[in-house]
Amino acid sequence: MNATILSENKKHFPVLLKEIISIISPQYGGTFLDCTFGQGGYSKRILEFKNTKVIAVDRDKDTLKVAKGIEKKYPSRFKFYNKKFSEISQIKSADKLRCIIFDLGYSLYQINDNTKGLSFNSTGKLNMSMGLNTFSAHDVIHNLDLIDLVRIFKYFGEDKEAKIVAKKIITLRKKKNIKNEDLKDIIESSKKKYFKKNKSTKIFQSIRMFVNKEISELIKGLVAASKLLEPGGMIIVVSFHSLEDRIVKFFFNDLSSDKNLSRYLPKRENTKKIFQVDKKRPILPSQSEVEINPASRSAKLRFALKLRDIDDYEKKFKEKFKFLLDIENISKKL
Ligand SMILES: C[S@@+](CC[C@H](N)C(=O)[O-])C[C@H]1O[C@@H](n2cnc3c(N)ncnc32)[C@H](O)[C@@H]1O
Repeated sequence: MNATILSENKKHFPVLLKEIISIISPQYGGTFLDCTFGQGGYSKRILEFKNTKVIAVDRDKDTLKVAKGIEKKYPSRFKFYNKKFSEISQIKSADKLRCIIFDLGYSLYQINDNTKGLSFNSTGKLNMSMGLNTFSAHDVIHNLDLIDLVRIFKYFGEDKEAKIVAKKIITLRKKKNIKNEDLKDIIESSKKKYFKKNKSTKIFQSIRMFVNKEISELIKGLVAASKLLEPGGMIIVVSFHSLEDRIVKFFFNDLSSDKNLSRYLPKRENTKKIFQVDKKRPILPSQSEVEINPASRSAKLRFALKLRDIDDYEKKFKEKFKFLLDIENISKKL
């Protein structure tokens, strides 16, 4: 790895680790699918329990180095795939999966890697790819027209100054190649009000979501996970912003309700729930976790137990979030 590491944050803390371990109880053994391996925080902890196996997935090939170290330590209990979690149905496991875990977003390691350009403190060429991407933030900023940029900033970033920022981008890109530092300057000069958060966070988030197709990844990942699991298995998701949480909440609540299933299921199955969700409210990090790791402050954990199989849910799920998927489809113009 020849990443330039930005100096701001150094130590990686797996978010809500204690809570996750208490929910999945690895002391009883079993096979776990970690869909967002990162620095291996969850995988390593699970493997400390005897009779566990972990299959791990991450789209970022830079996570391979950590994965290889774990593979060496647990050759028969750990397997890593450099894949997107929308592709987990391609993974064949001889063992029944006890639990599938998603810890969404990016890791501290990624945000501190200047070449990835995920931080508003990054410098140089725009990128924002987490891995296995087909286009970068550079392509987005230099090729999309005003209306499309505004839609991305407004709906993925929920940013009030979306139009001003997009206009400034169009003007500047006629004169020069826009780099990370230029984008940060444009955003900061467009903001009138004082915001507690860094002024650039929301626009950067919106471009990152667009470049990595995070909405469709999440929808496809959840559907694939619900098919891979056998009844009795569990899905756990840690999300970090409201759009992600809205998708996860809808998925679990809709499939754990007695209603809404009639269009897609045979009559005899109408009233049967697919998931059991015990806690309607998400689990949040404790005050002490937020103090040690401020990045955990926006984390929300939701989990559900699979009760039975379902077919054909993806269509309904995609219809529900069509307005977001339509924005993602702007990328077809690139
Ligand atoms: C928050 S970090 C996970 C940290 C991990 N739980 C740990 O404790 O080390 C999220 C990771 O998920 C990966 N990721 C994000 N979206 C993904 C996707 N669609 N498919 C596969 N990996 C993804 C990122 O590359 C990043 O490494």
